Amino acid sequence: MATLDIPAATREKATLAPGNGGYAVKRLTLTDFRCYRHQRLEADKGPVVLTGPNGAGKTNLLEGLSFLVPGRGLRRAKLSDVVRRQQGNSAPSGSWGVAASVHSPRGEVEIGTGFEAGRAGGRDKRIVRVDGETVKSQAVLAEHLSALWLTPQMDRLFLEGPGSRRRFLDRLVFDSDPAHLGRVNAYEHAMRERMALLRANGDKAWVETLEDTMATRGVAVAAARLEATRRLGEQLKESTGAFPRASVEAAGTVEDWLREGPALAAEDRLRAALAARRADDVAEGRAAIGPHRSDLKVLHLGNGRPAALCSTGEQKALLVALVLGTAKMRAYEQGTAPLFLLDEIAAHLDEIRLQALFDEISGLGAQVWLTGTDAGLFAPLAGRAQFFAVNDGTVTPQDSG
Ligand SMILES: Nc1ncnc2c1ncn2[C@@H]1O[C@H](COP(=O)(O)OP(=O)(O)O)[C@@H](O)[C@H]1O
Ligand SMILES: [Mg+2]
Repeated sequence: MATLDIPAATREKATLAPGNGGYAVKRLTLTDFRCYRHQRLEADKGPVVLTGPNGAGKTNLLEGLSFLVPGRGLRRAKLSDVVRRQQGNSAPSGSWGVAASVHSPRGEVEIGTGFEAGRAGGRDKRIVRVDGETVKSQAVLAEHLSALWLTPQMDRLFLEGPGSRRRFLDRLVFDSDPAHLGRVNAYEHAMRERMALLRANGDKAWVETLEDTMATRGVAVAAARLEATRRLGEQLKESTGAFPRASVEAAGTVEDWLREGPALAAEDRLRAALAARRADDVAEGRAAIGPHRSDLKVLHLGNGRPAALCSTGEQKALLVALVLGTAKMRAYEQGTAPLFLLDEIAAHLDEIRLQALFDEISGLGAQVWLTGTDAGLFAPLAGRAQFFAVNDGTVTPQDSG
């Protein structure tokens, strides 16, 4: 019966799903990265389980992996804060690095990233290397690796203000549309410059130029969010098994304009709104209209309730559904399932859901990195996963689960 409910398009997609088409980190090296002085770790394509007490360095290791894709990593840290601090040294100086051998369906690649204090005039600038060559932009990393993560900090995603949901949405968009990060950055940069210029009562022609950039980039940001949520919604309404079906919506004024008419009209409306609101925006300290105010609305289709009204367990399951849906989208469309970084994931998932999650992820051929304080929670993975003990900034392979 259940199979009859699956639309033909999905059945077709499912046969395209690559069983071994995921990315995998085969070797990871962390140097002066948070609590790690120099740590090397070898893994194969299977799940990696990291267990150890609080403060051992588990999240730090996942954060290291998260720096292998563009962005600020899973803690959104300042690059200079990541440098290992020695005891009693509160003002760290120096550099950190993360390097990895990445396996993908296209082959093996060595990628590395890091930070050197004092370089580039002391600016917080990432250094990125691919196969030993320094590349100009961190955006290049997206060509070699994709990663999605869930952390305990994200447990409050549906209860917080829209900012973290917007960032979460942008990361999902970015996973299948790597140009998205550049769009968001260009928009936000123009927005900050406009505000500074307005406050300084600066050149009107330059304000107009910045508003034009905000209008074109801003509408592109909103359009990419609409498109990604539309495709993700297709995945999520069909999703079965242990995770809830869900609907997702990119909600905001510019998104509404795009639903009403063409992109050029939305650009004109945003340009006009910005020009009309200069004094108000200065008074309020921020631009009132634009995709920097948008939200991600999620509905639990099982109980019909908005995510914010769901239980903690339901919210966690929704988050997993969203991330799994994004990974499936990428696996089906591009043949490369992202790396999964799941920090303390077992805390809000029962054993059945945990098992279902493992099965879904291995079905996609994606490598998953899991952490937890309680090794017992990962017992179902014995024989299938690689287990490591993390203690005081040192990672040691374990014999078995
Ligand atoms: N820049 C840094 N230099 C040295 N140690 C750090 C730095 N940043 C965080 N730490 C320490 O790393 C330790 C491990 O953190 P974490 O990875 O979050 O532990 P957990 O295993 O609980 O996830 C913490 O005790 C924290 O104080
Ligand atoms: Mg942790």
